[in-house]
Formats: sequence, structure tokens, C-alpha cells
Amino acid sequence: MSNNKQSRIRHHRMVVFSLLSLVVLTLVLPLIPYAIAELGETAGNVANPGTEYWRDVRQRDRIVTGTTQVRGVDTDVLINVTGEEWRQFRMGQLAPYGAIVLGVMVGILVVYYLVRGKIRIEAGRSGERVRRYTSAEMTVHWILAITFVLLALSGLILIYGRWVLIPLLGDAGFSATATASKVIHNYGGLLFAAIVPVAFFLYLKDSLFNLKVDAKWFLRAGGYLGGEEPSAEKVNAGQKAWYWVAMLGGFVLVASGLVLDFPNIFQQGREWLQGAHVIHTIVAIGVIVFFFVHLYLATIGVEGALESITSGHVDANWAKQHHDLWYKELQTGQGGGSASEEPSMSGGSHAGGVASPIAKD
Ligand code: HEM
Repeated sequence: MSNNKQSRIRHHRMVVFSLLSLVVLTLVLPLIPYAIAELGETAGNVANPGTEYWRDVRQRDRIVTGTTQVRGVDTDVLINVTGEEWRQFRMGQLAPYGAIVLGVMVGILVVYYLVRGKIRIEAGRSGERVRRYTSAEMTVHWILAITFVLLALSGLILIYGRWVLIPLLGDAGFSATATASKVIHNYGGLLFAAIVPVAFFLYLKDSLFNLKVDAKWFLRAGGYLGGEEPSAEKVNAGQKAWYWVAMLGGFVLVASGLVLDFPNIFQQGREWLQGAHVIHTIVAIGVIVFFFVHLYLATIGVEGALESITSGHVDANWAKQHHDLWYKELQTGQGGGSASEEPSMSGGSHAGGVASPIAKD
């Protein structure tokens, strides 16, 4: 064979060998880590690099912070894994159990009303009117009540709206309602934050527990489950309990609500928002449950109660029946009635400009 032919064959072999090497390298090289990983899995020492990377991004085994030019809380976190845990807790536990608790309380009140009916003024109305709340106490009460009801309704729409309102209003209707609820909730919360401390100090004096009287009241469940109605001061033990639930609950709602309202000021990480949301919702549902009882007793539950906070007066027989110790104090002139204000009577008599807690209609 001539030298020329031999050199052409060598050249040809080199080209084929190079091409084959190239094919092997491009196809096989990237598979090597996976093969090692596969072997590692069975041998238990080398992990799949892709899986490891994804584990890090999801922060499954350890907190891995990335690098970024953006300065701020959580900007170096690619995926906030606790977000999904929070979402599942909200949808799977918080919302359904909250609905059950609220529904059970409504059910108890309906059954109680059907069995017990309205609690009447046993001796009938006397025609004597007793001053119970000042204008300031009534005004603050109604600002607090209206704000609370708006917040409760808008909050409940934000949790349960998708299940209750979408079937009723459709997607667009629910969207508009939810947007309005969010605005009401965010701004109403600020008014609530301002009024709760005022209410706290205004009703504090009458809402301090008097162990001797209030323990007996609790032991006899206020007489609501039968038996004689226990003695009570101007504010009975149940009302005092409501005051403390509403006020302490109110403070927690305000604190957690402000964290949610101003994430850039209070936020130490998304976990703060998730924690604040869970606390906010649990406390809100707790306060709303007690509110149902307050609303029931104040309206259809007890005859003559509502007028105390709409007119500032109650009938003397109502006072004698439900707040006997306070009524005795009024008779002996020891106070407890809002003696700083003249009784405002509709068509009733005046006490000649002198503050008198009891007056005749
Ligand atoms: C629209 C709903 C409400 C109605 C109809 C209502 C009605 C009443 C009535 C009738 C009283 C006087 C009870 C009495 O003289 O024995 C009262 C007192 C009071 N309410 Fe309300 N209320 C409502 C909402 C609220 C809310 C939302 C709160 C607090 C967040 C609240 C807190 C209080 C407090 C602290 C008192 C004084 C203590 C007591 O008597 O229980 N009320 N309310």
C-alpha cells in the first residue's frame, strides 16, 4: 500500500474516532452525576444534585439564603415554605373549625330562646326610670359597637365569602364585596384601635370583679339555667366577663391587625404576618362568639335591657331584678348610677336640675 493511501485511512479513522468521542461526551457526560447519584442512593453516600438544589430552594433541610442586590426582609428567600403551611392551616383548620364554633354558639342561642323565651321584667314595668349610662358611655358604646360589627362582618366575608357569597353573588359580585370588605377592614381597624382604649378606661371601674358577689353569680350561671337570679352589682359578673373578653381581645386584635396593616413597619419576615394572621383570626372568632351572647341578651334575650344603652335609662323594676345591689345603692344614694348627668326623660319629670338617678315617667 502506498504511503499516501495509508495516511488517508489513518486520517479517516481519526475523524470517525473524534466524532464518536464527541457523541459519547455530549450524551454520556451529563448523565454521569445522575448515575453517581443513583449509585449513591443505593450506596447511601452521593445525592442527586438536582434534588439537592431543589431541596435547598424549598428550604427543606436547612435555611439557605441566596444573594441579591435588593435590600429588605426576606428578599434573599426564593420560596417561603411556611407560606404553604399557613395556607393549609387557614383553609383546612382555621376556617372550618371557626365556622363550627360560631355555628354552635348561634345554635345554642336559638335553642335557649326556644326553651326559655324572653326573660321578662317579672314585676312588670314600674314607670320609674333609673339612670344607667351617661351620654359619653352611650356614645362610646355605639362607636365601638358599630365599628366592631363592621369589622366582624367584613372579616367574616374575607374568610368565608368565597364559600357563601360566590354561589349567591357570582364571581364579579363577590370580588366587589371582598374588595369593599378589605377596605372597610383595613380602615375600620384604625378607628377600632382608637376607640378600644377609650372604652377600656370608661367602663373599667364598674367591670372590676368583686369576688364575693361575682363568684356566686358564676356558680349559679346568673340564673340563666334556672333557679333564682343571683345578686349583682351595676354590672353583673357575666357582663364583666364580656368587658374583659372584648377589651383584652380588642387589644390583641388591634396589635395583630396593625402588624397586618403595616407589614413594612412591623414585619420581621413573612412568618410574622402568618403568625399575626392566625392569632388575629382565632381571637376574632373568640370575641365574636361572646359578642353573639352579648347581642342576644341585649336584644331579644332580656326585656328592657336595650333601652339602657339607647336612652341611658332602665325601668326601676328591671334594675331591682337584674342588679339588686346597684339598685339598693341608688336608693341609699351611694352612687353607681350616672349621677353626674341629669336624667334625660321622654315626657318624664325633672329632678329640678339636681342630678337624681331615679325618676318617675
Ligand atoms: C350592635 C350590637 C350591640 C348591642 C345591641 C349592644 C347592647 C348593649 C346593651 C343593651 C348594653 C347595656 C347592658 C346593661 O345595661 O345591662 C351594653 C353594654 C355594653 N356593651 Fe354592648 N352592644 C353591642 C355591641 C357591643 C360591642 C361590639 C362591644 C364591644 C366590643 C360592646 C361592649 C359593651 C360593654 C363593654 C358594655 C358595658 C358592660 C355591660 O353592660 O355589658 N357592645 N351593650
